[in-house]
Amino acid sequence: MRAEINPVRLRYLRRTLSRWFSENARDLPWRRTNDPYRIMVSEILLQQTQVKRVINVYEDFLLEFPTIEMVAAARLEDVRRITDPLGYKIRGSWIKQIADDAVNERKGNLPDTLEGLLALPGIGRYTAGAIMTFAYQVPTPILDTNISRVMGRWFAGDLPHQDSSALRNQRLWALTESLLPKGERYGKTGWTINQALMDFGALQCKARLPGCDVCQFRRRCHYVQKNHGGVEHGTVKWLSA
Ligand code: ADE
Repeated sequence: MRAEINPVRLRYLRRTLSRWFSENARDLPWRRTNDPYRIMVSEILLQQTQVKRVINVYEDFLLEFPTIEMVAAARLEDVRRITDPLGYKIRGSWIKQIADDAVNERKGNLPDTLEGLLALPGIGRYTAGAIMTFAYQVPTPILDTNISRVMGRWFAGDLPHQDSSALRNQRLWALTESLLPKGERYGKTGWTINQALMDFGALQCKARLPGCDVCQFRRRCHYVQKNHGGVEHGTVKWLSA
């Protein structure tokens, strides 16, 4: 399902997002690589965990296990010794199982399709989309709490307020997809849009005090239009279409 959004508005959002990102991007270690193994490790460690807590563990993990073959050759307890302190302790065994599978089935390579990635433990639609975009440079939608909030605010007027939460979620996925370039491979646009959406949600379009008065998107944001400067905080009030 692709969302029907005014193309002028979509172009504005894409362009403004690229500009915002060029001025505000966080310098994060997993943004300096497109190695699928490293991206997979980062995205699993980032599940339900704050970026600032992940950075050191990610770097320690790759010092200990610079290749996926080294994870496959390691004992699970040695993998978990590094990942467990982050909490949500199942993740060490997911990384180990993914490494074993890659080494046994694909000469150390991860799958390079959404379906192949989704078949792996610990990889849902969000993480699979992140690996497709950041490692393989195939623009693929991603949606987490931050991005849902950004999409909800920008597009609230385009989402009928009577949507059930399942249908709303489907629309939010379609909206993130509508921002991505179609058919791009090995370009940088999809990468930039997805990374930028994450940073914009984490740094500016926060759940509380989103700073709408200085926001670069305010001219075409439904949340700003509704709230006259974003004085109202918290969850989006859905507009009727
Ligand atoms: N959260 C999940 N994936 C992320 C990424 N690649 N960069 C920043 N935060 C994230």
